Amino acid sequence: MKVFIETYGCQMNVNDSEVALSILQKAGYDRCESMDVADLILINTCSVRDNAEQRVMGRLDVFRQEKRRRSGVVVGVLGCMAERLKEKLLEHPAVDIVAGPDAYRDLPRLVAAVTSSGKQINTILSHEETYGDIAPVRMDRDGVTAFISIMRGCNNVCSYCIVPFVRGAERSRDPHSILREARCLIEAGYKEINLLGQNVDSYRWTDPESGETVDFAGLLEKVAELDPKIRIRFATSHPKDMSDAVLLAMSRHANICRHIHLPVQSGSNAMLEKMNRKYTREHYLGRIARIREILPDCAITTDVIAGFCGETEEDHQATLSLMRDVRYDSAFMFQYSERPGTKASRHFPDDVPAEVKTRRLNEIIAQQNEISQAINRSLEGQCFEVLVECTSKRSEAELMGRSSQNKSCVFPAAGHKPGDTVKVRVLSSTSATLRCEVVE
Ligand code: SAH
Ligand code: SF4
Ligand code: F3S
Repeated sequence: MKVFIETYGCQMNVNDSEVALSILQKAGYDRCESMDVADLILINTCSVRDNAEQRVMGRLDVFRQEKRRRSGVVVGVLGCMAERLKEKLLEHPAVDIVAGPDAYRDLPRLVAAVTSSGKQINTILSHEETYGDIAPVRMDRDGVTAFISIMRGCNNVCSYCIVPFVRGAERSRDPHSILREARCLIEAGYKEINLLGQNVDSYRWTDPESGETVDFAGLLEKVAELDPKIRIRFATSHPKDMSDAVLLAMSRHANICRHIHLPVQSGSNAMLEKMNRKYTREHYLGRIARIREILPDCAITTDVIAGFCGETEEDHQATLSLMRDVRYDSAFMFQYSERPGTKASRHFPDDVPAEVKTRRLNEIIAQQNEISQAINRSLEGQCFEVLVECTSKRSEAELMGRSSQNKSCVFPAAGHKPGDTVKVRVLSSTSATLRCEVVE
């Protein structure tokens, strides 16, 4: 039996697909790379913005055609949309299975039950499930960088956000299982490990026997110390919880990459309060100052939402000015999208007109592109060690690798291959890429 899986959403969802594949593999399913030969088609979905959901609905129509073409094909919807829409998704003619983020152990049973009893659903959220004992089937082709989810769920209630509703309560995974997984990856030849959580700074695990507690700074050091040649990355940091201890742990370990993703969402205190982010602009800028002080060569990136409920022109200007003050290396920038059931959807009207949201977002993007470009231009002539990830999108004769600061560097292959660490010098740049030459 063959399973095909398509993944939308964040890196945690990518890792969840690997967990689901691992569970199905034990039940006799082999992964295939094309839907045309699959007995089981899975789509792991994202609910964070309406357009993410629309894209998935479009794919379900494609799967429906595939089912018409080949009878017996089973289609399952996994992930955050499965959790949000539950039975409603089962009404879609293409869908046989709906399985939420904590239900993947149940997948083999659900799939088997479809043939005997029709459509199946399991969207039960758990307070304990971390899939800690499951070795994910890695989906990347080159075997260079791998994800490890160190926690699941989220206990914050940012008023715009659907994640806590679809991912459930926050739970941290046993550090022993994290370290075991990291060791396996290193033995398998991986060169970079990415530790994932919605808010890694609130990672906390207490040994039920000894009472010993491990926080994120402690975990980060334990992983970094496994092998000084292996790079460590992590995401996402939360401005209200990111401690100096994390920054100091980074400064002690050269193999923890010099990059922090610290979503700000807005530069206006009024908006931050309404978003329930639990920090102010001043606190946020204080955290940035500490990063610059402790880790002068650290890249900083962010997420921004344009046009949240009641956002005035002044609030918008505050976001633009904060972004100029921080000078982010890059940013993910979104228009606010109301999510049903969230605090914002229940209490605050989504009152910024669509054209105003679009205009503000475009201003934010244009300003950020200029800043990214200026930062990258200032790197021209400098040398970096990059970890080669893959061949470049444009040409087989070129490779793409990332610097510790997560800058994507493109350079002539010259005999190097994915997994190699190569020293390069920056020749030219755009806002997204550094063109480099190899330095012998
Ligand atoms: N846990 C992370 C990221 C969560 S989702 C954090 O706390 O930052 C990734 C990003 O999507 C968020 O940082 C936010 O910028 C954006 N996002 C979340 N909900 C959104 C919504 N309703 N509309 C628009 N963007 C949203
Ligand atoms: Fe959503 Fe906030 Fe949790 Fe991030 S920290 S996942 S934005 S609720
Ligand atoms: Fe999307 Fe779920 Fe991740 S809503 S961003 S896939 S946690």
